[in-house]
Amino acid sequence: ARVVVLAGGLSYERDVSLRSGRRITDALTRVGVAAELRDVDDSLIPSLVADPPDAVVFALHGHIGEDGSLRSVLDLIGVPYVGPDAAAARRAWDKPAAKAVLAAAGIPTPEWITLPRDMFTDLGAGPLLERIADRWGLPLAVKPASGGSGLGVHLVRRTADLPAAMIGCFAYGDEALVERFAPGVDVAVGIVSGPEGPITLPAVEIAPNSGDYDYAARYNPGATTWHVPARLDEAVAEEVRRTALAAYHALGLGDLSRIDLIVPESGPPQVLEANVVPGMTETSLFPMAVEAAGLDVGVMLAGLVRRVLH
Ligand code: DAL
Ligand code: MG
Repeated sequence: ARVVVLAGGLSYERDVSLRSGRRITDALTRVGVAAELRDVDDSLIPSLVADPPDAVVFALHGHIGEDGSLRSVLDLIGVPYVGPDAAAARRAWDKPAAKAVLAAAGIPTPEWITLPRDMFTDLGAGPLLERIADRWGLPLAVKPASGGSGLGVHLVRRTADLPAAMIGCFAYGDEALVERFAPGVDVAVGIVSGPEGPITLPAVEIAPNSGDYDYAARYNPGATTWHVPARLDEAVAEEVRRTALAAYHALGLGDLSRIDLIVPESGPPQVLEANVVPGMTETSLFPMAVEAAGLDVGVMLAGLVRRVLH
């Protein structure tokens, strides 16, 4: 089978995506799959139509790779792909929409409010933000409503810093998400589908040296310490696993995804978001979890490719 690994493109995560793409392509090649890395540009669709591969694997982080749009195009031209379908990708990409689905399913997620740019400018930022801070306290997490790799994400510790954080978000899109912050342990749970249904990989505990899991902490070796499996009591680890799996099902995800959660000092684990194209770089969490489970990234991906070919 000929597999095309989509990567690069023009999103803010282009560099990360190329790193993920190289690792995926190498891992597949090592196990005997004919995989080629494809940097996404405007020749992509004509070439897929003229010479369709047997399957596509997404290493394309950011908008069109994760928001379902390119998946819809592949559906249209009849090329199978590894990963959640277009509708599920769309839900997960839109963080407020995903949180609404989770909340409706009774899965804990931090309280939130979505602030479109227009509301921020039309209603005046100051009173709005002060009210949010009064209600939920500080710090607050302020994020672009869609995006990845921690870009545009701010942990705001003083009310005076809120407007700048909001403007930082609007550099990435027209909507910001403001979330109540629960101090706790950050964990990520990879989920992979197998013949008997989805399996959860060991939770990865994330301890950035700076205290902030930002872009630099994610992609500079040595900037973050990981613990796999996460240092959680057995009962808590099981609750994390069950919560991640519940989120995976509620969002209608498939094949592979990574669910990010916070384990607060008290109370149940809370789901922050789902990632349909989890990072596969040398410092990324998903491949770490695959290896901690005693599996090989190439073998795992080849298994997923085989499933979509049928
Ligand atoms: N968006 C990055 C690559 C991740 O979720 O891992
Ligand atoms: Mg993410």
